[in-house]
Amino acid sequence: MKILVGCEFSGVVRRAFEERGHEAWSCDLLEAEDNTSHHFVGDVLDVINKNEFDLIILHPPCTALAVSGNRWYGKGMPRNKERRKAQAWTQLLWQAAKSRCERVALENPVGVLNDIIGDATQYIQPWQYGHGETKKTGLWLHNLPPLTPTNEVEGREQKVWKCPPSSDRWKIRSRTYEGIAEAMTGSKVIERRMRCLEKSGLTEERLLVLKFLRQRRWRKKAGIVRMDIASHALPLS
Ligand SMILES: C[S@@+](CC[C@H](N)C(=O)[O-])C[C@H]1O[C@@H](n2cnc3c(N)ncnc32)[C@H](O)[C@@H]1O
Repeated sequence: MKILVGCEFSGVVRRAFEERGHEAWSCDLLEAEDNTSHHFVGDVLDVINKNEFDLIILHPPCTALAVSGNRWYGKGMPRNKERRKAQAWTQLLWQAAKSRCERVALENPVGVLNDIIGDATQYIQPWQYGHGETKKTGLWLHNLPPLTPTNEVEGREQKVWKCPPSSDRWKIRSRTYEGIAEAMTGSKVIERRMRCLEKSGLTEERLLVLKFLRQRRWRKKAGIVRMDIASHALPLS
């Protein structure tokens, strides 16, 4: 599968998919930490609009959106305008990704995103995926099943908050956990898709065309007609 990991400089999720044999790309305004050639430096919206992907995973900036920033970005607070701007941009990103790609996942910590893109499909914690730490994180999933915990461990350290101040602090705090990246690659939907492509020897595009034709044949056979909003019955073309 061809995968885009948007807003990722670390390469953690990209590499996890590469290790499973996928063609994975990351994209960020920053250079990739590992100097890979599979990284776009630039605006993720441009990359989404100019390329085709089978799966898009997004890690948009959360500083202005997370509840932890309420005392600066909350209602009536000095930086509230930045929060509203971040909400609008993330909504645009979510819509663009869903309109261009069949499967999309967006990750963000607990915050104000649900006001604009609805409730998260699920919340996960690093300790469910092999890291003894807490960081409640929402996943918004489009045509993807929820993640299943892979390795529940004992620790509940709030390590991300204890990072000493440094210019790289935000990077350390925002890196995706490797156990979570690994779990993303093991999703049954993704594995099934890979097996299907391998078995048939078909490309992803050809498979989609076949699926479309099969559905159309089935609809015609079943006499299903499409209705427009004024309730005029339209035969399927
Ligand atoms: C919360 S961090 C996510 C980091 C990620 N989890 C990782 O492991 O690399 C958000 C990232 O979004 C990037 N970013 C912000 N605006 C962007 C844009 N318009 N296009 C692409 N990346 C963007 C930032 O540079 C930052 O690296």
